[in-house]
Amino acid sequence: MPETLSPNPTPNPTPESTQERAVTVEPSGRHYSLLVAPSGGFLGFDENGASAVFSVAGDRVMWKREADGFLHVGSGRTAQSAGAGRITIDGRTLNERGQPVGDAAAFTVGHGPEQLPSEYLRYFKEHGWVCLTCILSPDVVDDLQRVACTDGHAEATPDRSTPQFSQSVALARTAAEPVSLWVIRQYMRTEDIRFAHTPALIVLTQDDGQRNVQGWHSDYPYHWGIPARGKVPTQAGDVVLGVQRNVCVSAFTKERGATAFKLGSHALDHGPPDSWGTAGAHARPGHRAAHGLPYNGPDADVIEAPPGSIILYDSRTWHRAGVNCTVQPRAAMLQAVTPMFVMPKNDTSGSYRHFIQSAAYRQLSVRERDEIRAMMVHRFLGPAGRDVITADAELTSIVDGSG
Ligand SMILES: [Fe+2]
Repeated sequence: MPETLSPNPTPNPTPESTQERAVTVEPSGRHYSLLVAPSGGFLGFDENGASAVFSVAGDRVMWKREADGFLHVGSGRTAQSAGAGRITIDGRTLNERGQPVGDAAAFTVGHGPEQLPSEYLRYFKEHGWVCLTCILSPDVVDDLQRVACTDGHAEATPDRSTPQFSQSVALARTAAEPVSLWVIRQYMRTEDIRFAHTPALIVLTQDDGQRNVQGWHSDYPYHWGIPARGKVPTQAGDVVLGVQRNVCVSAFTKERGATAFKLGSHALDHGPPDSWGTAGAHARPGHRAAHGLPYNGPDADVIEAPPGSIILYDSRTWHRAGVNCTVQPRAAMLQAVTPMFVMPKNDTSGSYRHFIQSAAYRQLSVRERDEIRAMMVHRFLGPAGRDVITADAELTSIVDGSG
């Protein structure tokens, strides 16, 4: 049983000294296509068979590229390219809403998923995690690496003068990635989901054999194993209160510090055992130098995935940051997603306010703007209706006794 295992005392990890099971996802090299309208919505067919543009990316907007057009996966119907981005179905040119009337609109071809959204959802429900392999387009991945200063941009210096989320449209575009959001909404059984904190790029540098590392824990809002207030009680029950969405900005490999998991542990509905070395224990100063690494034996798993992949996992899943044994910094973009009825972990209003005034915001499509606003703006009922929640520094100082 995992509870009987002790942390590995090895202070200087090498790929050989840690024994987690590597779960490697390989890219297929094949992707469905999205036909993207000027609004950023996706062309598909409604339940009556009429073509339309949708703001969500379920199976109904998946196409396969063919020699002279596209094959709709769900219906077997075809769409033809008519030049300049125009699309025709049954010989009729489509407008910006995907209807065969009015002015022709220019559609673009978007980078779609390797598998159908419903296939990802099925795997997620069965296993508590799923990897949407290489779902981001290479140009978006390169831009994320540029902001993180990793991979091909490792010689650059991170920009500390501007909030990170506003530094490139790639961050918001990734945060609004439509297939993973569809899967998350289905898994949580609610359309109304939020970011519990501003999406952030995190860089893991080479381990030095001494510094503290992250111990085992479950993510927000459960926070099992973490020295935080407001943990979700165990057993938490059937309602899903959190999905973690980790974007592999760099390649995730065991050597380079890919996240370690106890895959399937979400179903246990409680946190990791103390014997594995919790995040709470490992947060104490000097803990790692004195006690070694948290558990990294064969009952743990490491998901290895190419850059541009998105790993979704039920936030109850036991996990910890990996240990980077290479000189190459490894970047990830982390997002905690919750239903709207869960209180956010951090105040996202400041970074959203800055973002909507940035050049990055102006590059987003209407769909992407709508999605980011819906997920980063938290509201409750107030005198003016559905007021936006934001931090009140003055009130904080008053109630804390310093004002
Ligand atoms: Fe975590």
